[in-house]
Amino acid sequence: MDIAIAKLEAWMRDYYHKVDHDIGSSGVRDLSMAELRALCGFELSALDSMIFHDSESYGGPGLRSALADRWTGGDLDKIMVTHGSSEAIYLVMQLMLEPGDEVIVVDPAYQQLHDIAAARGCRITRWPLRVDHGFGVDLPQLRELARSGPRMIVVNFPHNPTGVSLTPAEQRELVAIAEESGAWLVWDHAFGELTYEAEPLPLPDTSYERCIVWGTFSKSYGLAGLRVGWCVAPPELLARMAVLRDYIALYVSPVLEFFAEHAVRNADRIVALQKKHAEGNLQLLRTWAEGLPELVRLTPPAGGVSAFVEFPGQPDVVRSCRRLAEQHRVLLVPGECFGDAYKGYARLGFGGTTAELTAALPLLERVLREDAGMVVTHD
Ligand SMILES: Cc1ncc(COP(=O)(O)O)c(C=O)c1O
Repeated sequence: MDIAIAKLEAWMRDYYHKVDHDIGSSGVRDLSMAELRALCGFELSALDSMIFHDSESYGGPGLRSALADRWTGGDLDKIMVTHGSSEAIYLVMQLMLEPGDEVIVVDPAYQQLHDIAAARGCRITRWPLRVDHGFGVDLPQLRELARSGPRMIVVNFPHNPTGVSLTPAEQRELVAIAEESGAWLVWDHAFGELTYEAEPLPLPDTSYERCIVWGTFSKSYGLAGLRVGWCVAPPELLARMAVLRDYIALYVSPVLEFFAEHAVRNADRIVALQKKHAEGNLQLLRTWAEGLPELVRLTPPAGGVSAFVEFPGQPDVVRSCRRLAEQHRVLLVPGECFGDAYKGYARLGFGGTTAELTAALPLLERVLREDAGMVVTHD
């Protein structure tokens, strides 16, 4: 299989574990076990009675029903527990697509949303966000693109890396466009629970049956290391996914499912805490960017904990990001990881601790000033 290197993950492999301050990741501050226990109200001794028994192909009954209560109105048949949403992405793309199929994907996008399809021999059509209009969506353009009758339309709102989202009316129009074209609508809900000004959008699968949704514990909950995600899809597709995962991972560990079940049952409390934290950090980021209009252009995100910041006047943002990591131990992700069109941008994650954000922003400013050839005014 001729698959492209996942640039973002490769960047993370190089730097994520070698920095002191992470302002590149797209997930909110990681919880400790003690925090998770306090938020969910369980004791570790509850694990003593756990038997290291296999779990089930679709997920153990406890976690599956907790997810069904949260996402499918209690319908267990539409839910599968996966290893992060990454596993769902892979299984769905492998099973739903054939060489030559057309896939329309929002652009920029998390690379896995298009490059597994590309490796399958699909034709990838980009649906670009309106870069000069706050990364807003152009639904008339999508309607035009979708006239060709694509197999799939893949979107992710709130969006990685920009944090932009849709209004409920725009979401309805998107669903209508997919329906008119007969395409499967693939809705990546990774950041769906963490929104700032508007309420979270509903999953679109209730209004359109050719819809596949996945979500994750990695982003809005602060449980990235749990490696648990979920997929909502028609039962026939989940059955095919179960067959394919028999060759990969079989099922998710019951140990992970134990923690995940508690997290879902207490998701509102966890998200409220993380949202309050992220809002405070976002305000810090906005104030910082407003003070540096010659160096930084920030479109404030509507959800998630990343922004796609533009650095005008920078000769080489990848080099600046490398320098930031190697000399100052700060992680930022160059926009190039989202495609060559975004060389002037970087993904800035503000979901980490407030201490690391406040330590990292002055270091970033210093590198930006130096690399833009400006005089450095502080040490
Ligand atoms: C939009 C989006 N979808 C899916 C994923 C996969 O995350 P995970 O496998 O941790 O659920 C990511 C990770 O960054 C992402 O940004």
